[in-house]
Amino acid sequence: MSFPERLASCASSVEAYLAERLAGGTTELDAALRYAAKGGKRLRAFLVMEGAALFDVPREQSVIAGAAIEALHAYSLVHDDLPCMDDDPLRRGQPTVHVKWDEATAVLVGDALQTLAFELLADPTCHADPAVRIDLVASLAQAAGRRGMVLGQAQDIAAETAATPLDLPSISTLQANKTGALIVWAAEAGGRLGGADIAPLTTYAMALGRAFQIADDILDVEGDAAKAGKRLQKDADAGKATFVSLLGLDGAKAEAKALVDAAEAALAPYGHKADALRAAARFVISREF
Ligand code: IPE
Ligand code: IPE
Ligand code: MG
Ligand code: MG
Ligand code: MG
Repeated sequence: MSFPERLASCASSVEAYLAERLAGGTTELDAALRYAAKGGKRLRAFLVMEGAALFDVPREQSVIAGAAIEALHAYSLVHDDLPCMDDDPLRRGQPTVHVKWDEATAVLVGDALQTLAFELLADPTCHADPAVRIDLVASLAQAAGRRGMVLGQAQDIAAETAATPLDLPSISTLQANKTGALIVWAAEAGGRLGGADIAPLTTYAMALGRAFQIADDILDVEGDAAKAGKRLQKDADAGKATFVSLLGLDGAKAEAKALVDAAEAALAPYGHKADALRAAARFVISREF
C-alpha cells in the first residue's frame, strides 16, 4: 500500500470508530460532537496505528488509541477557533462549531471530546493490561495539559500581545508544547501499546512535530486557503513571530527538510517495517492542507 492509501485507511477506520462511539444521541450537543469529531487528515491516528504496527499490535486496539488522540486534537481545535482564542470561522472546510451553533456549545463540545479521549484509553478493549491503559491515560494527560498543549496555547496567546516578537528558542519551546506534545504522544503510543522501548519513536516524533509546525507556518504564508480548509495569512496579520518570520521562507524550508531527514534516521532500528512512518515525515512538509 502507498502512503496516501495507508493514511486513508487509518482515517476511515478512525472515522468509523468515532462515529460508532458518538452514534445515537439526539441532543444538539450530540449533533455538534459528531460534527466536530469528523474529518481532518487523521495524521495523529496514523502515527499511533503505524507505530503500533511495528510491534504487531492488533489494529482493533490501535484504532481506539488513534481515535482517542483525534478526539483530544479535535477538542483543541474547537477551542482554538473560539472568538476568545483565534476567532476563526472555518475549520476543515466547514463553519466552526461556535459559528454553526454557539460559543457555549463549542466550549462544551471541546470538554466532551477531551473526556471522550480518556474514556477510550481507559476502555479494556484498548488494551487488556490495566497498567498499559493507565500509562496511556497518564501520558496523554501530561502531553495535553498544563505542561504540554495547553501551556503551548497559553504561550501562543501571550506572544500575540508581547512587547517584542519571540526569538527562535522561545518559538521552538512554544511549538514543542502547542503541537509537538500531541504528535510525540501519538508516535509513542504504539510503543506503549506494544510494550516496547519508545525512545526511537520519541526522537522521530520530536523532529516530525517540529517539521509539522514549520510546514503549518509556511502554509500560513503561501498555502491555498481552499485546500487548507481554514483561514490563512493570519500569523503575519497578527504580527506573530513564527519559524517563517524568524528564518525566512527558504530558511524555514531548509530546516523542515533537515528535520525530516533526522526523523527518518531515527527509525533505523525498525528497518523497512517503518517505511510508512518515513513517508509520513516526508508528507508533513509537502502537504497542501
Ligand atoms: C492543525 O492540525 C492544527 C495544528 C496543530 C497546526 P492538523 O493540520 O493536523 O489538522 P487536521 O486534523 O488535519 O484538520
Ligand atoms: C493550533 O495552532 C494548535 C492547537 C489547537 C493545539 P494554530 O492556531 O496555529 O492552528 P490553526 O492554524 O488554527 O490550524
Ligand atoms: Mg491558535
Ligand atoms: Mg488557530
Ligand atoms: Mg497555524
